Amino acid sequence: MSTHRELKKITTNTLQKMKANGEKISMITAYDFSFARIFDAAGVDVILVGDSASNVMAGHETTLPITLDQIIYHASSVIRGVNRSLVVVDLPFGSYQSNSKEALASAIRIMKETGAHAVKLEGGEEVVESARRILAAGVPVMGHLGLTPQSIYKFGTYTVRAREEAEAEKLKNDAKLLEQEGCFAVVLEKIPATLAKEVSESVQIPTIGIGAGRYCDGQVLVMHDMLGINTEFKPRFLRQYLNLHDEITSAVKQYIDDVKSRDFPNENEQY
Ligand code: KIV
Repeated sequence: MSTHRELKKITTNTLQKMKANGEKISMITAYDFSFARIFDAAGVDVILVGDSASNVMAGHETTLPITLDQIIYHASSVIRGVNRSLVVVDLPFGSYQSNSKEALASAIRIMKETGAHAVKLEGGEEVVESARRILAAGVPVMGHLGLTPQSIYKFGTYTVRAREEAEAEKLKNDAKLLEQEGCFAVVLEKIPATLAKEVSESVQIPTIGIGAGRYCDGQVLVMHDMLGINTEFKPRFLRQYLNLHDEITSAVKQYIDDVKSRDFPNENEQY
C-alpha cells in the first residue's frame, strides 16, 4: 500500500472504485471521539455511527429508543476524531418513516449538526421515497436490508432473514431499487451467504455484510462485539478479536487493589 493511498480521504466514490477493483471494504461502528480516533488511525474505511448505540451505549434492549438528538451527539463526537474514514450515521427509528419531508429534515439535521458524510436508513421499497428526497438534496444514502433491527417487533426474532423465496426475491428487488435511486452502498444483515452473493453480483454498488457471508463487498461489525466488550452476544457470524471485558476487569481490579493497599500512588506519582 502506498503512503499516498493511506492518507487519502475515503469518499463514496472510493467505495465504488474499491468494489470495481475487487478490494474489500472495512466498516466498524463507533459512538465517541476516542474510539473513532483509534479506528480512523488504524485505517478503517467506513465508520458507522449506528443506532446500535441504543443497545451498547445506552443499554436498551432494541435500537428503537434512540432519538435524533442522541445520534447527533454521538456522531458529532465521532467526527471530531476522524481524518480519513467515511462517516455514515443511522437515521433513528421514527425520524424518516412517516414521510419523505420528515426524512429529509432529519438527514439535514445530521449533516448540518455533525459534519458527517452520509446517512443510513433501513428498508427497501417502503422507504424509497424518503431515500429519493434525501438523495435529491445531495446527501449520500446507504441502504440496509435483511435483518433490519428497527423492525424487530414485526419480525419477532433476530434469526436469519430471507431464507424463504418470497422474502429473498423482495430483498433482491429492493437492492436493485436502492441502487437505481442512487444509494451508494447497502448493508446486508443476517441473510444466507448465497443470497448475499447473488445480490452483490447483481448491483454495481458495494454490499456491506454483517452475518451475510464472505461474498459481500465489505464487512461491518459492532465495535463492542468484535472487541469483546460485550461478551454475552456470541452469534455465529461474529469474530471476536479481543476480550476487552476481561482485560478491563483485571486492570480495574488491579487498580482497586493498588488503591486499597496504598501502593498507588507511589512517590513518583505525586507532586
Ligand atoms: O446500528 C448498527 O450498528 C448497524 C450495523 C449492525 C450495520 O446498523
